[in-house]
Amino acid sequence: MIDTIKWIDGAGTAKAMILDQTRLPHDISYIECTDYRQVVDCIKYLAIRGAPAIGIAAAMGIALAADAISAADAMEFSAKLRPAIDALLNSRPTAVNIQWAAERIERLIENNKTMPISALKEMIAKEGVLILNEDIEINKAIGRYGAEFIKDGDTVLTHCNAGALATGGYGTATAPIRMAIEQGKRISVIADETRPILQGARLTAWELMQDNIPVTLIPDNAAGELMRRGEIDLCIVGTDRTVRNGDVANKIGTYSVAVLAKENNIPFYVAAPLSSIDFTLSSGSEIPIEERPSHEVTNVFGRCEIAPKGVAVRNIAFDVTPAKYITLILTEKGAFKPEAIHTLDPKGNK
Ligand code: MRU
Repeated sequence: MIDTIKWIDGAGTAKAMILDQTRLPHDISYIECTDYRQVVDCIKYLAIRGAPAIGIAAAMGIALAADAISAADAMEFSAKLRPAIDALLNSRPTAVNIQWAAERIERLIENNKTMPISALKEMIAKEGVLILNEDIEINKAIGRYGAEFIKDGDTVLTHCNAGALATGGYGTATAPIRMAIEQGKRISVIADETRPILQGARLTAWELMQDNIPVTLIPDNAAGELMRRGEIDLCIVGTDRTVRNGDVANKIGTYSVAVLAKENNIPFYVAAPLSSIDFTLSSGSEIPIEERPSHEVTNVFGRCEIAPKGVAVRNIAFDVTPAKYITLILTEKGAFKPEAIHTLDPKGNK
């Protein structure tokens, strides 16, 4: 599978290479980032997107910022790093992974504050690569737990792209599918196209076809009819932020899929690495939901205007699916009922 993001090491010459997902499926090209501000732009303009992938990009962005700092001690170093961390935190609000990655690096600095600055810089760069590599292993663990719920011959509906491209590799929602196929089960996927910017059509369909996984693309509004006809056995989606009561924020349209699944007695699973779970929020109503520019709705990928000039637009990028619609949340620690997800809180708050 193609790399979503790569780190090229070197004191003073380090780079993060970001696959430009705005150009997929037509072109495979990388954006070379030598400055954290370029990483911020890549996240804002969706060259890299998907919750775990933007967490990894943020860690690498912090490493690039760190590399450019001169400081006498860790306190000065942390203070000089702050603007970069804040810019990354403000780049996209809904996925908690950027905050998760930033906090991980802040803890690393705090725990090593007596080290020379050059050693701190090296540690931060290594942490970015570690987050990337760990992410792939986490997704495989999600896959092992999730594959149990997929039977030979099943058709799985997914929404948006929570695949390899949205992560360090292997994907979250696609992990149980990939694992079930590795176990010899015959599985096919229905991919919602995912308006307005078509991550399902451009990214999910593409990455599954690259790996010879049978995939059929549908307009978002066809999902209900396919469910009613009995052509979908289960749904698996990813998440940008899951909270203590099991409510899940994910790409706009996920809530509709979940309600339709419940109406049609179809299990609805959410693949959620711990890095996407926000144990500080108690309900989905507290999740910040990103609203994006109107041109994403009125233009098809900047190429063709499809609406009258000046029309009013709402472009809500994510929605919240209440826990009651979710069968199980699949994590790297196992499968959990949504109401039990808070028991995974690493701080032990129950
Ligand atoms: O706006 P995007 O493309 O970043 O939205 C991505 C999604 O909603 C994914 O489903 C989510 O980030 C989970 S990725 C494993």
